[in-house]
Amino acid sequence: MPSWPLNQWYVAAYSQEVGDDLLGRTICNEPLVMYRTSEGEVVALADRCVHRRFPLSMSNRVDDSIVCGYHGFTYDKGGQCIAAPAQKRIPRTARVPSFVVHEQDSFVWVWIGDNERADTALIPRAPWLDDPAYTTVRGMEPLKARYGLLVDNLLDLSHETYLHGGYIGTPEVAETPMTTEVDEEANVVYVSRHMADAECPSLYARSTGIDGRITRWQDIEYHPPCLYLLHSRIAPVGVLPPEDGPDDQAFHVEVVYAITPETEHSTHDFWMVARDFALDDQEISTFLAENNRTVVLQDVTALDVLETVVEGEKDHYQELSINIDTGGLAARRLLQKLIAQGEAAPVGETAGAGDVAEVAVRAPAEPVPTA
Ligand code: FES
Ligand SMILES: [Fe+2]
Repeated sequence: MPSWPLNQWYVAAYSQEVGDDLLGRTICNEPLVMYRTSEGEVVALADRCVHRRFPLSMSNRVDDSIVCGYHGFTYDKGGQCIAAPAQKRIPRTARVPSFVVHEQDSFVWVWIGDNERADTALIPRAPWLDDPAYTTVRGMEPLKARYGLLVDNLLDLSHETYLHGGYIGTPEVAETPMTTEVDEEANVVYVSRHMADAECPSLYARSTGIDGRITRWQDIEYHPPCLYLLHSRIAPVGVLPPEDGPDDQAFHVEVVYAITPETEHSTHDFWMVARDFALDDQEISTFLAENNRTVVLQDVTALDVLETVVEGEKDHYQELSINIDTGGLAARRLLQKLIAQGEAAPVGETAGAGDVAEVAVRAPAEPVPTA
């Protein structure tokens, strides 16, 4: 059984990544090929030709179909084979599984599980990413670590002080206690840390132009398994949100991660930073993109190491947890609950053996009489 929940939505790509070209990407151990049809609709099919397994992502797109690059089986956007070489009749079972996809908030979401159960109303939202009132920078880093290590990492930001010192970490992050709440019905973990009087990390000092200490709030929402939101509020020290009206003396940064398992030991680490200030300032966009990527890569380096440590350890290693781990432990518990709820789901459909023409047996040659 996989270590992630089935019958769930996962981010497979940014919308802007999926176009005319065939994009191959493995999501939850399912190799997928994705493309956008002439109508603009995103298609996700299993990336394995039903004939001899050649990856369709390494094949050719012809109109809205894919022609396998090995022997030419041709698949329509639903995954049905519509042409095969040297025969008119196409075996009924010649099709590749097709996955349900939905575009929302600049993501391509894919349903991993039983297609009949896919419900787009269940997809969590990150509306800033598509909102003209925000400017977003984004990237995706391949992580050679299991997705659970990234969940642990993001649910406890005390590590900012140590792993990201000089970027987003200041002493107050690790010093300030946080509160954790779990919505068991909606399956959301909330972790909040409000720093009343904190040093302004360089990432925010330069992008907001605030000179001096700040009131810094970090409010996390984790919607397992895939979507992580960090609502970050930065204001001059002592400036709190007004009782009524817009919170316009503060700067708001929405940090979003999509945590998508690739395999049991690797993860797609999609990261985004959306801001509601200096919307057209390209220099600030470049600065935030470069600096945030550096921060993400600091995590990637640490988690890649942790993966090798975890893989190499003896069974039954007992971790020690403290207060800062409350959010991470709650996330693990919700993930286990979702795994139990989503188990035993058929993913895609199974292709059959197909129809094979009989092989004619050549009659043995008449023995040649010898003199
Ligand atoms: S492997 Fe695709 S047509 Fe043979
Ligand atoms: Fe980090």
